[in-house]
Formats: sequence, C-alpha cells, structure tokens
Amino acid sequence: MSDGGLALAREKMTEAGVAPAAIETFSRFYRLLESGATGLVREADVDPLPPLARAADLDLTDDDAANALAKTAIIKLNGGLGTSMGMDRAKSLLPVRRTADGTDLTFLDVIVGQVRAARAATGARLPLLLMNSFRTRDDTLALLARYEDLPLDGLPLDFVQNREPKLRADDLTPVSWPADPDLEWCPPGHGDLYPALHAAGVVRALLDAGFRYASVSNADNLGAAPDARIAGWFATSGAPYAAEMCLKTPADVKGGQLVVRKADGRIVQRETAQTHPDDLAVSLDPARHRYFHTNNLWFDLEVLAAELDRTGGVLELPLIRNAKTVDPADPSSTPVVQIESAMGAAVAVFEGATAIEVGRERFLPVKTTSDLLVLRSDVYDLTADHRVVAQVPAPLVTLPAPYKTIAAFDARFPCGPPSLRAATALTVEGDWTFGAEVAVQGEATLHDAGTAGVVPDRATVGPHGIAAG
Ligand code: UTP
Repeated sequence: MSDGGLALAREKMTEAGVAPAAIETFSRFYRLLESGATGLVREADVDPLPPLARAADLDLTDDDAANALAKTAIIKLNGGLGTSMGMDRAKSLLPVRRTADGTDLTFLDVIVGQVRAARAATGARLPLLLMNSFRTRDDTLALLARYEDLPLDGLPLDFVQNREPKLRADDLTPVSWPADPDLEWCPPGHGDLYPALHAAGVVRALLDAGFRYASVSNADNLGAAPDARIAGWFATSGAPYAAEMCLKTPADVKGGQLVVRKADGRIVQRETAQTHPDDLAVSLDPARHRYFHTNNLWFDLEVLAAELDRTGGVLELPLIRNAKTVDPADPSSTPVVQIESAMGAAVAVFEGATAIEVGRERFLPVKTTSDLLVLRSDVYDLTADHRVVAQVPAPLVTLPAPYKTIAAFDARFPCGPPSLRAATALTVEGDWTFGAEVAVQGEATLHDAGTAGVVPDRATVGPHGIAAG
C-alpha cells in the first residue's frame, strides 16, 4: 500500500477544483479505509427500532399540514449514475410512463408534475432542488428548461455534488485511465449531500427565502411525492431529522435499516454492507427488525445549517467501501475502490432524530430493469396529480442477465411492457423478446429455450409458459 495515496488523491482533487469540505470528507474516509475500518454494526450491540408513529394514523389539522408544506423545500438526489442498470447518466432521464396521448414521461417529468400539482392544490411555493453530479447536470437542466414556471426567484434548480478519484484496489492510489479520464472519477454516494449543500450555500439560501424544512428523497423513487401531512407531522414533532420507514416483508432482503445503539441510545443506520454475515439472517427477520429505511428524509433546515457550519460540512458518517472496476462496463478493467457514504447515516449525528412509519406507496424504487418493467406496466396508473398508484399488488418480476442493462432491456420489450395486472410473479429464464400486447397471468415462468426466443404478439404467459394469442 502506498503512503502517498492520500496525498496524490488530495492533489488531484485540488487541481480539479473540488470543494475543500469534500476533500476533507474524502481524507477522513481514506484514513478509515487505510486503517481497515469495516463500519460493522453488530446485532449484539443494538436493539430494534421501537414501534413508530404511523403516517396513516396522524391526528393533524389541515392547517398544520398546509402551513408546514408552505415552509418545505423538495430536494431530489439525482447524482447517481445508475451503473447497476448499465447507465452512466441520470436514471431520472429514462422514460417511465406513457400518457394517454402517447407522450413519454421521464422520472423527472413525473417529479416536476408532482411538485406543480402540490403547488396548485395547496398554494405552497415548494421549491424543487436537484442534487446533480458532474455526469447528470447538463442533461437534467436541459430537460427542466421545459418547465418555465418551475424555478422560484432567487433559488437555484440544482446544486452539484462533489467528485472524487477512484482508487486502485491494490495500493489505494488514484487510478489512471487515459482511454477515458472521466472514468477516473466517481460521485461519492449520497452522503455527499452534506458537503455539497455546504459548498453550495443552499441551506442558508432556503432559510433566507423563508423555508424551514426539507423533504429529501431519491429521484428514482416516484413514491416520494410532496406530502403535506408528513410535513405537518415533522414540523409539530420539533425533531431535527426524521426518516420515513416502511414495514418489512420477507421479500425485502436488501436495503438499510435503523437500529438503536445500546451504548448511547442513539438511532444509527445499518446498511447491508455494515451487517456482519453472522447477523444477516436476524437483520432481515421482520419479527425483530420490523422496518426498512426508504431514504426519504426530513430536515429542520435551522439545525442542518448549524451542523454544517459547526463541522465545515464534514459530518462523521461511516464509510462504505464499494469495490468496482474503473470502467463499469468492462469487468476486466482495473479493480478500484470507491469511497462512499449514505445520506441516512446522518441519523446518528442529530440528537433527537426520529422516524415515522409510512405506507408502501412512498417507496417505489427503481434499482433494476425488473423494477422498471413493473413501474412502466399497467400495474400502476398515473393520476392527474402525477402520483404513480398501484392498481393491484405488484408482482415479483425476475429478469436474468441478458436484461440487465437498459439498452438490452429495451431491445427485448420493443412494443413496451406486457400486461402484468393479472400476474403474481414473472420469472424469465434465458433470453426472450416480447411481442405486442402480451399478457402475463398468475405465477408465470418463461423457461430457457437454449436460444433466444420470441413471445408472439397477443400471447399469454402463465405458469406453463406461452399460450398462443
Ligand atoms: P443508489 O445508490 O441507488 O444510486 O442511489 P444509483 O445511481 O441508482 O446507483 P448504482 O450506480 O446503480 O449503484 C439512490 C439515489 O441517490 C442518488 C441516486 O441518483 C439515486 O437517486 N445518488 C447516489 C446521488 O445523488 N449521488 C451519489 O453519489 C449516489
């Protein structure tokens, strides 16, 4: 391991004009990485989160809700590159719903539609701010330019997160990749929200414009629409920070959770990467850990501003060590480590942080093309206020490797998604291209035919495979 790795990385970041708070955050993580820190949160050291207040049961006046929303800003995390779906730009630019008149709406169009509908319904000013990264900014702003009424006077539409060097896995020096020097850099995970907000001065700008709360969520979660009742609950709770949690089902085998640290009674986040293999089964057991973390967060901007000022934007978050290759599309390229952190880990930083149980409709993430297929399908309807509402319980869709990247996926559904309304599950094995107006029924499976196959137009796919249309 090279002692000079950190110095080289700092030099590279300074030369590229990366903000000082981001360089200090990176350096803190680098030292943790070098010291072999694992960030593991052992089950023996924690208690489960106690039963939470439920958003569905809130006893709030409409006035409380409306007043809180009037002071709320919406922040969407849009800096990730969707590498799990073979993308190197914002996932939010993908078409996700087609309107009755045949217009394709991207995630971003739906997000803007939700904000405009909430403004129209409540009179709230509701600024929308995106956290972009160096790869997502230009395309995103170009799309938002369609919506002339979106910007609010004096507030930006976005702020840009930092970038950091990918590190060679063998010696932790910054990787060099002359074939495409852009690939030498990565966004540092959504924990970068804090240094990025600090560098951009966004929290102060929002406070100066009369806002007090922020509702932050992933751009790929269209369930996290502006919500006056949750805003009202958060404002009356007086808490500095809150996380929206969903009840876990046995199918929820991934994602973070919140637990209570026995040592000091603080709520801390535990990601899968921070779970010891021996604790994995119990961490997933809904009887012990009832909730999972949606990454929908609420902040009191006064408290956040004070914390960012006090720390210079360098919050003490746990390290996430992400092993990848320098070119994500080429598994044989140089192995690298990406230093990342999670936004929700800040729960441990805010004394008095709290959480609320929300319905599953607040959590519609798109991490894989299987998720995208369901969201694009007739399982969901897009309402006039741009909410994406499930019409039936969502089927469990499992697509194999040939469908992993967005380009390969789109090529296999050239006529759009099949009807999934009557499906409880769809498991595809092998490589099938779907024709037009295919309907999937029950617990459907397509077995591997050995070669690429075609599901004919108007066919039905069921438990026994394809029935002719
Ligand atoms: P994910 O980690 O799921 O990101 O982030 P992703 O882009 O979908 O990830 P990969 O590349 O396929 O693993 C959840 C949300 O956080 C944002 C993403 O844009 C997404 O909305 N995010 C993630 C950032 O804004 N910045 C980051 O550095 C990472």
